[in-house]
Amino acid sequence: MGSLIIYCRAGFEGECAAEVQAHAAALGVAGYCRATAGSAYVEFNLYEEDAADLLRRLNFADLIFARQMFAAQRVDDLPLGDRVNPLLDALGETQVGEVWVETADTNEAKELQALCRKLAPPLRAELQRRGRLHEGRGDLPRLHVFFLTTASAWVGLSEPDNSSPWYMGIPRLKFPSGAPSRSTLKLDEALLTFLDAKEREKRLRPGMHAVDLGAAPGGWTWQLVQRHLRVVAVDNGPMDQALLDSGVVEQRREDGFRYRPPKPVDWMVCDMVEQPARIARLMADWLAQGWCRECIFNLKLPMKKRYQEVQHCAQIIEQRLSKAGLRYTLRFKQLYHDREEVTGYLSIVER
Ligand SMILES: C[S@@+](CC[C@H](N)C(=O)[O-])C[C@H]1O[C@@H](n2cnc3c(N)ncnc32)[C@H](O)[C@@H]1O
Repeated sequence: MGSLIIYCRAGFEGECAAEVQAHAAALGVAGYCRATAGSAYVEFNLYEEDAADLLRRLNFADLIFARQMFAAQRVDDLPLGDRVNPLLDALGETQVGEVWVETADTNEAKELQALCRKLAPPLRAELQRRGRLHEGRGDLPRLHVFFLTTASAWVGLSEPDNSSPWYMGIPRLKFPSGAPSRSTLKLDEALLTFLDAKEREKRLRPGMHAVDLGAAPGGWTWQLVQRHLRVVAVDNGPMDQALLDSGVVEQRREDGFRYRPPKPVDWMVCDMVEQPARIARLMADWLAQGWCRECIFNLKLPMKKRYQEVQHCAQIIEQRLSKAGLRYTLRFKQLYHDREEVTGYLSIVER
């Protein structure tokens, strides 16, 4: 298989392509990207190496703008009467543990969703008949059939432990009734993305203390309260009254850049609308000073040079924390619920 397919947010194809190209180059793999603005995916074509090898060597968690990635080949001129057999013939003899029939996350591709729904059951049935589908086997690759038109698709494989666990790379999170803002889904998704179930249990324990910078009206605070943390919500704007009445939230009407916790806290989260570099410096300072052990923060990206801006922010954090002699984990992801922004996770690694 000669290409990698990477899904991303529509409008971020350039960032996604630049990032994949940089990661492949760092691994010594040459290739070129094809990306159409607004298409919500990028195609990385390899000159020599096998796309499946590159897929294994790339770390999905390191890719900021990737929602999903798989190694694939394109199948065109699918006959209307039988799409299933040519699609499966392109797959070869591989055994798979799951089948996802997908399309791009764009308005234009929406009309292909009915076709995806229609084709998924016969594809599964035919794979089963060929003895190649073992549903529930997480150790086997996942099959992606990614429709571009009714007659063209990419057919490929992802590694379940090195890809998004969500169909189309999109977590279906329900907006919780009672949460004061839609932003609440951002922190919910961030916790699912950056921490696995065991880490969430270990790192978000009832009774822990958190600070929420730029908290109003309280969507992120609400998520922390749901997990039984006590929260200091820093914002001049009005906070949701039910949160203030909960007894575990204290509002401080202060500048989030000046607020300092009287005692170190476990978590700090930050959704202030500010220049990304300024936020990055603040996050690094909180960890370097020992005011918190981990933080999740949102970076609102400028219109241009968005990939470079995130890299610049990573450098700021790296410089400050290395100077402080701290070991840390830093990751960024453009979450499904992020728009012109990315979310970061920064955590001290205990020695
Ligand atoms: C995107 S909203 C936060 C939404 C919130 N995370 C939620 O889920 O409801 C940004 C907030 O940051 C606050 N903000 C911006 N600059 C700030 C600063 N310097 N100090 C404190 N809050 C600030 C604004 O008042 C605004 O309420």
